[in-house]
Amino acid sequence: MRMHRKSHLDERLNSCGDILTVADLTDKNMKHAAAQKDELDFVKIFKNGNPVNLEIGCGKGKFICEMAARFPQINFIAVEKISNVLIEAVERAKAENLLNVHFINSAAEVLPRYLKEASIDKIYLNFSNPLPKLGYARQRLTHPKFLNGYRQYLKKGGEIVQKTDDGDFYLFSLESYASCGYEILEKCEDLHAVCDPENIVTEHEKKFADMGKNIYRIVVKS
Ligand SMILES: C[S@@+](CC[C@H](N)C(=O)[O-])C[C@H]1O[C@@H](n2cnc3c(N)ncnc32)[C@H](O)[C@@H]1O
Repeated sequence: MRMHRKSHLDERLNSCGDILTVADLTDKNMKHAAAQKDELDFVKIFKNGNPVNLEIGCGKGKFICEMAARFPQINFIAVEKISNVLIEAVERAKAENLLNVHFINSAAEVLPRYLKEASIDKIYLNFSNPLPKLGYARQRLTHPKFLNGYRQYLKKGGEIVQKTDDGDFYLFSLESYASCGYEILEKCEDLHAVCDPENIVTEHEKKFADMGKNIYRIVVKS
């Protein structure tokens, strides 16, 4: 379903410029775009040297805003390629006066342009699109193409925490992590049955759990 473009989107994005980096989304050559260097200075952005965690595909930002409020000693970078969706996340962070979140309106493929080597402690992949058709496998955010790419900015020993409602995507991801040399620290096939009190439920997680679907979680170490 096509989403209706939000009114005054450009003005609204501009007015959040202090907590938002907007990539050039017109550059369709991802390799070219990623090879440019516009590295973010986290100390300048956050005014401290705290650890930085990254969420790729943050959607409307429920997870990242709740994480930022719960963990003020951690800085968060949230990435979303669709500006029409991202605006809700950015405006929420502004309204809640969260000083430890910065957003990037970009595709995951372009992130090496913005993130310094070994600058990220943890990556969250929450309900990334499973893209079940074989021809789209390379676009899955846990395809080896991406897992090898994350190593450009994820610290050695840094973690990836992935949640999904899709059993096939869960299995595909497990294989992919193993083939790229990530160490599997956790694989859980029914997160809500385990009742992790620390778990922050994302927008999609609530929707899928309400439908009675299992929620899977994988934690790996680089
Ligand atoms: C199914 S939604 C999940 C949103 C949110 N994380 C949640 O759990 O509710 C997946 C999101 O990832 C974004 N996304 C998909 N591929 C991406 C990519 N290559 N780079 C950045 N964002 C991406 C989509 O635009 C979408 O908003």
